Amino acid sequence: MKKIKIYEKESYKKLGDLYGLFFEDINHAADGGLYAELVQNRSFEFCEIDRKEYHALTAWEKSVNTEWEICTQNPLNEENTHYLHVKAEKDAYIRNLGFNTGIYVEAEKTYLFSVYARAEKKVRLTVSVTDDAGTVYAKNTLEIQGNDWTKYACKVKATDTTAVGRLVLTFGDECVCDLDMVSLFPTDTFMGRENGLRKDIAEALGEMKPKFMRFPGGCLTHDGSLNDHDRNSMYRWKRTLGKIEERPTWRNNWGYNQTLGLGYYEYFCFCEDIGAKPLPVLPGGFNPHKGEGVPMEALGAWVQEALDLIEFANGDASTPMGSIRKEMGHEKPFHMEYLGIGNEEIGEGFFERYPQFHNAIREKYPDIKIINTAGPFAVGEGYEAGWTSAKQYGSDLVDEHYYSSPEWFLANMHHYEDYDENGPKVFLGEYASWGNTYYNAIVEAAYMTHLERSKAVALACYAPMLCNVDYINWAPDMLWFNNHEIVKTPNYYVQKMFMEHQGSDAVRFELENLDEIISLTDNKNIAGKLSIIGNDVEGRIWDLKLTDHTTGAVTQLPELAITTENLENVLGSIDSSDYTLEFHFQRTAGRKGLKIFFGENEKGDKIQWEFGGWDNWDCNLTTIYNGRGSTISHRIFHVEDIEYTLRLEIKERHIKTYVNGVLWNDVTDRLPELEELYVTASIEQNKTILKVVNLTGEAKDTEILIDGEPKSKVNITSLHDYALTTENTFEQPQNVVPLESTEDYKAEGYNYTFAPHSVTVMVFE
Ligand code: AHR
Repeated sequence: MKKIKIYEKESYKKLGDLYGLFFEDINHAADGGLYAELVQNRSFEFCEIDRKEYHALTAWEKSVNTEWEICTQNPLNEENTHYLHVKAEKDAYIRNLGFNTGIYVEAEKTYLFSVYARAEKKVRLTVSVTDDAGTVYAKNTLEIQGNDWTKYACKVKATDTTAVGRLVLTFGDECVCDLDMVSLFPTDTFMGRENGLRKDIAEALGEMKPKFMRFPGGCLTHDGSLNDHDRNSMYRWKRTLGKIEERPTWRNNWGYNQTLGLGYYEYFCFCEDIGAKPLPVLPGGFNPHKGEGVPMEALGAWVQEALDLIEFANGDASTPMGSIRKEMGHEKPFHMEYLGIGNEEIGEGFFERYPQFHNAIREKYPDIKIINTAGPFAVGEGYEAGWTSAKQYGSDLVDEHYYSSPEWFLANMHHYEDYDENGPKVFLGEYASWGNTYYNAIVEAAYMTHLERSKAVALACYAPMLCNVDYINWAPDMLWFNNHEIVKTPNYYVQKMFMEHQGSDAVRFELENLDEIISLTDNKNIAGKLSIIGNDVEGRIWDLKLTDHTTGAVTQLPELAITTENLENVLGSIDSSDYTLEFHFQRTAGRKGLKIFFGENEKGDKIQWEFGGWDNWDCNLTTIYNGRGSTISHRIFHVEDIEYTLRLEIKERHIKTYVNGVLWNDVTDRLPELEELYVTASIEQNKTILKVVNLTGEAKDTEILIDGEPKSKVNITSLHDYALTTENTFEQPQNVVPLESTEDYKAEGYNYTFAPHSVTVMVFE
């Protein structure tokens, strides 16, 4: 019998704000997502900079007896420069298509229509939601008259439900008018807020009981122009304040338009509504995607923006920024404690600028916890630069990001074991295993037991959080939705189980009779097929030599012509634990470099050396299991049109790469393995919480003992008995759901069987 003994009086770590959320406006997470606006392109501001096929009339249609034109002569205001000029015949109409399959209205629910309009002569406007077949679901009328821009509004009540509605504005008589900010909102938003959030999505997030929410994004924050008035500007928080009709709309770097109707004020309110501490991330005056930084002499304005944000969130309503907050409807401060500067920054440019933010914030607001950033991988140059900078300046936390295969997580459960618990703490601001299957979720759960146990880890959040299924930029994601349904993934349920039952303190526990670590592979060598593929380049490879150091055999291979078709050039196969591949390469066209694959087995699992990867920024090593990559070594490198000598050395699981004789990557690849049970224990007031993940295919009979106050019952939430490949889908959203039960607990002889492939959270009280 296995045994878990929990010492509930022996706290070894304050869990604080450990589990939270990360909101990024990616995958239409805001517009067409959490932000409840039903009209797409409400202010006729879409343009080709947002997305090449966009224009000011995207998502709008008209009847043949309507003439329309986008005008700019006399706009609503200087941020909202386009409006629609309409000349309509009697019964002509314009209509908006909404997001996804259309506008969703639900029987008996009320919707608030509003529009800014002007018309010299009276316009009788019928506002309706209809489908393409002409069925009317909701209807009301308005009259517009007056030469000045005026806001008109009315409510419409749905008599039936549809997910394929169009917002139709029908003109009762022949007329001429100007329209802007055409909006339709459910009145039943989350917490009933005006300009509010979609209730089902917001509730699903609130129910998780997150301790914090990072926003407004990752790359969203730092990708873009340095001028905050450019259409493709980086995310500049101050421009998201004020009345929604006076906010600019921008290019979202994920290839769409962001209205900014969900701006910083709304993010703060949402955090408050769900009891999560706000954790905003600001750009650090540097765009790593372009290697472009704001001139040092102009950085003061960016630093001031950070100081202003703190005053906006925390200042008294009498302060300049606090008074803006009050004017927007929130007199009391938001009590912001955390502030991130930068996201996955690569390159000196950021780290030269970071100290200016850090020092100014520390001096003026010593209680704010400042978060530095450590690149896009769990290893490598960005990662090391982030940690070095954080230690040098005394950042409170370092934001780490990694997306990896489940096998990487299984190999790296002890990732944080040797981190210094007295230095800056880890904020695991983005992580996920590649996939939304039950298997992905339970591997993440196992990893979370180690996050909870590590004294170095302070905060962690899964990423990305939201995805509109018709606008996918990135998968996997935690919650999927269309215009009326949401799908909670198994990953969501794991996050929720851990968040809801986090506890205030991690407490000591002992395990008895557990097996040794279980190895998942017999072949410990990196042996197998070798191949080279061009990465969108043309070039030549010559003097290819493969040396097997175990036998001394040297194989000369033929010269290769690399073409932009990215064809696979198979070099052969090697069954050795000690070998070297060497060759010369010269690029003649294209911007990137090569992918060199080695150690490929029959399943296609392999390791990739990417020379000039991503945007020709990387020299990386990546393991690939079941087609899912995990970066195990990252160096910055820009390939040029010159001759290179490349060398790959393999010795057992140790991999080295050399470029022109210089050691470039140097890493030992860890193989995935299983612990028999993954366990963590915590307390919350008079409750003791035990989380156990069983990744094996066998049930584990376990005696559970609590050393502490007497307990009489245990509430159990568990995920078990699902096939590892199971996913929740729109058709079957309940494939994987946690089950709840309650049992009596007695101090001696309480046994529980942890089912195969299960995640169990037990709350003893
Ligand atoms: O979460 C998706 C993206 O992944 C984030 O924008 C970025 O920070 C990371 O590379």
